[in-house]
Amino acid sequence: MTEQSDYSDLRRDVSSLLTEETDPIANAANCAALVYHLMPDVNWAGFYFLQGDTLVLGPFQGRPACVRIALGRGVCGTAAQRRETIVVPDVHQFPGHIACDAVSRSEIVVPLIHDGHVLGVLDVDSPRLDRFNQDDRSTLEHVAQVWLRSSETSLVAALSNH
Ligand code: SME
Repeated sequence: MTEQSDYSDLRRDVSSLLTEETDPIANAANCAALVYHLMPDVNWAGFYFLQGDTLVLGPFQGRPACVRIALGRGVCGTAAQRRETIVVPDVHQFPGHIACDAVSRSEIVVPLIHDGHVLGVLDVDSPRLDRFNQDDRSTLEHVAQVWLRSSETSLVAALSNH
């Protein structure tokens, strides 16, 4: 079971930290840090960016993770391919799940879509089964939107070499 969390601090801090900055990597780093520290029971929070047909590790908090994930592979590659958020209550039940940290038991992946193009994903892992509910999902989708909006002017230039 999951319980209700109050993410007003997270939503406020993401908006205020990103509002004056347009650098996508700096903003992704701060998003990862905020999610990791303000969402309870999270052991990994970070970004993968799409280069060609491969997701490549970006800024994150947590243990070192696998660097490259092919589009369509794992939870991250599946969310990027389907262009939709995927919530996995039990990672052991997700065929093809890629285990970067054996402690992770549930996971949520939000695709980053700019102007119809998938730029990457925001990935969050928890050591708790069934950790992510609708509130977590809408909060992380909000974080992804704030990142996309704040970084908009730099995004095309910084991420177009794929
Ligand atoms: N579990 C992910 C891989 C990334 S790590 O969780 C950081 C997946 O199956 O795509």
